[in-house]
Amino acid sequence: MNLYEINNITKIYGDGETKVNALNGVSLNIEEGKFVVVLGASGSGKSTLLNILGGMDNATSGEIIFNGKNITELDQRKLTRFRKENIGFVFQSYNLLPNLTALENVEFSTEISKLPKQGADNALAIVGLSQRKNHYPAELSGGEQQRISIARAIAKKPKVLLCDEPTGALDYKTGIMVLNVLRDINKKQETTVVLITHSQDIAKIADVVIKMRSGQILEAVTNPTPLMPDEVEW
Ligand SMILES: Nc1ncnc2c1ncn2[C@@H]1O[C@H](COP(=O)(O)OP(=O)(O)O)[C@@H](O)[C@H]1O
Ligand SMILES: [Mg+2]
Repeated sequence: MNLYEINNITKIYGDGETKVNALNGVSLNIEEGKFVVVLGASGSGKSTLLNILGGMDNATSGEIIFNGKNITELDQRKLTRFRKENIGFVFQSYNLLPNLTALENVEFSTEISKLPKQGADNALAIVGLSQRKNHYPAELSGGEQQRISIARAIAKKPKVLLCDEPTGALDYKTGIMVLNVLRDINKKQETTVVLITHSQDIAKIADVVIKMRSGQILEAVTNPTPLMPDEVEW
């Protein structure tokens, strides 16, 4: 079953002299439960694509079907609801609120979404940080903060987790730990994961690798033998 069916989307930013064609006719299906890596150089349109998949932004043209439902022309209010109900985001920067503890940061997100939740405590256990729940972000390492931000994203049990360079600010070993957590969530909770990277090595853990260049998909390659994150060397 396809979670996403994306037909010929374009995205144009600005107009006149400042016009940028960020996506030029992207078509793609994403199967439910897969771990998908979007690979491409800086400026190739990866974040633009991810933001459109997550309902953070509208495409200029084309069609996006999510879980059988056309979300292409939802207005801002409906798009916000779609996001709350279905999407978890993880970014390179952790965006935790500094005055809230780890647990409060995760709870805050479950409160603003009225979904079946797996709960903040459970989400923290899944990322392996139950024992840090009363710590403040400044008392946690970068990798731990990123795992808290993952817990925050999964507490509402989203159908899909969209990750924009989640290990971009982390060293090698910490990055692997974070990728392990994401792979684990994908396997055990059957959450579809779409992860952006410019690392060929990280792409080795994917079920499917989408290669982008200049706002277009060069190829989508199924990987018959994805590596576990700790088998990857880079
Ligand atoms: N808000 C924006 N306004 C204007 N141009 C943008 C905006 N966001 C991205 N772009 C441009 O769109 C292109 C694709 O950007 P982006 O999707 O961020 O690429 P990537 O994530 O692969 O680095 C780039 O040329 C970038 O400069
Ligand atoms: Mg980007």
